[in-house]
Amino acid sequence: MNQPTIGFIGGGRVARIILGGWNHAQALPARIVVADPNAEGLARLKARFPSVETTADAAVAAGQDVVFLATHPPVLAEAAARVTPGLKPTAIVVSLAPKFTLARLTGLLGGFGRLARVNPNAPSVIGAGFNPIAFGAALNAADRAVVSGLLAPLGDSPEVAEEKIEAFALLTAMGPTYLWFQLQALRELGASFGLTEAETNHGIKRMVCGAARTLVDSGLPPAEVMDLVPVKPLAEMEPTVLEFYRTRLPALYQKIKP
Ligand SMILES: NC(=O)c1ccc[n+]([C@@H]2O[C@H](COP(=O)([O-])OP(=O)(O)OC[C@H]3O[C@@H](n4cnc5c(N)ncnc54)[C@H](OP(=O)(O)O)[C@@H]3O)[C@@H](O)[C@H]2O)c1
Repeated sequence: MNQPTIGFIGGGRVARIILGGWNHAQALPARIVVADPNAEGLARLKARFPSVETTADAAVAAGQDVVFLATHPPVLAEAAARVTPGLKPTAIVVSLAPKFTLARLTGLLGGFGRLARVNPNAPSVIGAGFNPIAFGAALNAADRAVVSGLLAPLGDSPEVAEEKIEAFALLTAMGPTYLWFQLQALRELGASFGLTEAETNHGIKRMVCGAARTLVDSGLPPAEVMDLVPVKPLAEMEPTVLEFYRTRLPALYQKIKP
């Protein structure tokens, strides 16, 4: 499987992230078929990635070498039923959804076991992703290399225990949404404080990476790290934000864990 053909069942955000990442790396596979019932969404996808074939017929996408299941969990069972008859015996199915274990997917796919699960994150769109992967036992070393090769242009894809996929969904897949609105607010303020766009962007990138590294790599206790800066203009909102972290995220984790 030197140049595997690719099928996507679902042509929404996560498909766009992966296609965007391949495109960014100039590594778009030669044949990609995306199936989705939403014609408008497919047209937008086609405009952005003209070489991609789009279809409403999941069976066409299911007939490719590597088939990504890219729908939300509530429609995954129905999507799997449409995929099953079209799968080649040598295909590899990669599920991007939380909640559905490899064992459950095998059941939904009529006993098909050549499966992997990946939890991609959005920075993959520029090759800066963190995309943990769990391989099913039926995939041999060559199969795993095919999947890892497809993920390589998107960023890091460490192999993890399958039962950790949902934890990463909360931490690394949804994580950017906890930060992006705040970082964008800072970008907008940078200009009003007299910085050029380039100065603001450079400063923010270094600040965020440096802050994360100081917290996890400095060896200092977290309280000491957070006490390194005495002026905290947003301290008042911390209890509210922490309350959200400590209630919303565990609740969602309970909802998406198998
Ligand atoms: N976005 C991320 O950053 C991210 C990261 C990690 C994992 N994921 C996972 O990826 C999966 C998809 O998420 P998403 O963010 O791409 O959501 P999305 O933007 O809503 O895309 C899902 C797409 O699937 C389509 N769809 C619905 N039923 C279908 C069917 N039977 N066959 C084919 N396509 C169907 C939807 O069409 P309609 O709009 O018409 O319903 C929609 O276009 C989820 O399981 C999610 O947890 C997403």
